[in-house]
Amino acid sequence: MTILITGATGQLGGGVVRHLLGRTDEQVIVSVRNPAKFDVPGVEVRHGDFDAPETLDFRGVDKLLIVSADAHDSDVRIQQHANAVAKAVEHSVGHVFYTSITDADTSTVGAAVVHKATEQIIRDSGLPFTFLRNGMYHENYLGALTGETVAVSTKDGRVASAARDDFALAAAVALATDGHVNQTYELTGSTTWSFPELAGDRFRDVSDDDLIAAGLPPFVVDFFVAIRNGVFAQVRPDLEKLIGRPSTPIESLLGK
Ligand SMILES: NC(=O)c1ccc[n+]([C@@H]2O[C@H](COP(=O)([O-])OP(=O)(O)OC[C@H]3O[C@@H](n4cnc5c(N)ncnc54)[C@H](OP(=O)(O)O)[C@@H]3O)[C@@H](O)[C@H]2O)c1
Repeated sequence: MTILITGATGQLGGGVVRHLLGRTDEQVIVSVRNPAKFDVPGVEVRHGDFDAPETLDFRGVDKLLIVSADAHDSDVRIQQHANAVAKAVEHSVGHVFYTSITDADTSTVGAAVVHKATEQIIRDSGLPFTFLRNGMYHENYLGALTGETVAVSTKDGRVASAARDDFALAAAVALATDGHVNQTYELTGSTTWSFPELAGDRFRDVSDDDLIAAGLPPFVVDFFVAIRNGVFAQVRPDLEKLIGRPSTPIESLLGK
């Protein structure tokens, strides 16, 4: 059995590799844009850039984890993922795993467009698949939550986020265990929190326009809108089931 992970120079993919090595003797391969950035003993490194499909080499791979890429342009990102899926078909990969977003097909957050389209491309490929629909990482919010003031437009919208490393562990478990064929996992934290709750008297209720005027990129503000609208508020059981324990609470990462 051969397992290949893309995006392994990134934080999530790197975590998946680390967790996988601790729980399987299967051959682990990574496909990365810059092989010089990855050096883990026992792991085969292949060069692969989603923007240059001819570089992608998924030959001999039973399970492929496509970690979603990080370009800001949705069309570029969808094409990158389409390139990876096309190569998976060409190289007869046995099973494709993809890191998506919670409720990818119905979510109102802008980023979901990419994940909905990519999931459809994977379904249309006919390859067995597993969608790991990751909720928000705690890490997205640590900077804001540790500021002197916490100026956000979320109001008291709740977030069922989880530590990035818990999502990495869930992916590693899914890759290392049997089953999961044509399954969609909605992965969230075990508990929810809100900005006013965690920021206390440092919380400042500001508008989306205030944040844009302060220089925040529109895609970040879009995530605050989604939080305000409860898009990431629901706790689902799938992450706990995969990792075999409640998720790490955000308070642990905040040193509380
Ligand atoms: N759920 C959330 O809260 C959340 C938050 C942020 C991001 N995300 C999504 O989850 C993904 C993984 O998160 P992360 O924290 O690991 O992000 P990250 O640390 O930025 O890692 C992104 C990975 O994608 C690789 N990549 C980018 N473009 C590529 C291309 N054209 N060809 C091949 N590889 C490419 C990067 O390679 P290089 O090392 O060469 O740049 C890197 O390994 C992100 O890419 C993004 O889609 C989710």
